[in-house]
Amino acid sequence: MSLHIGDTAPNFTIATQVGDIDFHEWSGDSWVFFFSHPADFTPVCTTEMGRTAQLSGEFDARNTKALGLSTDGVEEHLKWIEDVNDTQNTSLTFPIVADKDLEISKLYDMIHPDESDTAAVRSVYIIDPDKKIRLMMTYPMSVGRNFTEILRVIDALQLGDAKRIATPADWAPGKKVIIPPSIANEEAKDLFPQGWDELRPYLRLTEV
Ligand code: BEZ
Repeated sequence: MSLHIGDTAPNFTIATQVGDIDFHEWSGDSWVFFFSHPADFTPVCTTEMGRTAQLSGEFDARNTKALGLSTDGVEEHLKWIEDVNDTQNTSLTFPIVADKDLEISKLYDMIHPDESDTAAVRSVYIIDPDKKIRLMMTYPMSVGRNFTEILRVIDALQLGDAKRIATPADWAPGKKVIIPPSIANEEAKDLFPQGWDELRPYLRLTEV
């Protein structure tokens, strides 16, 4: 199945190491950071699982629940989490989908046959409280994800929703943002009374 930004994230019911979850019910009114892994007991994945657990306060601050997926079973997940906690000095509590039959990996297009027929690549889905897919990223098995970027895109999406802005290249919280071309100057005066720098009619920067 091929998914796109704006699609409703497909629902599923599946076992995790903290019990069965119905994805839509479990996510509730939260944003979701859904990220897949090729297998338990592998080095890159171990660091990524640990980093996510270490950042639990940052995800909570963004009303975002982490949901991992790895193409192994619940028993393996439970044993692996002991290693993650030990080696990454953390305490992992978020659910990890036990996808040993690749059911959810296939549903979310996480199997890329030139990488592997039997294990998921490193996909990221950011899903909003309306269950819409807002961002997708795909990494190969050999490259660990950048969690600063993951938090940054959640910030950008949430700020964009709240203030009707877009974010420029390398934007980070506190930096200037873009007034989208779909907002004419007349409306922009109401939305951004602080004013803006107009570098071009289509490139207006403001502070929020
Ligand atoms: C890893 O997590 O280190 C890994 C997993 C599968 C293939 C390559 C690396």
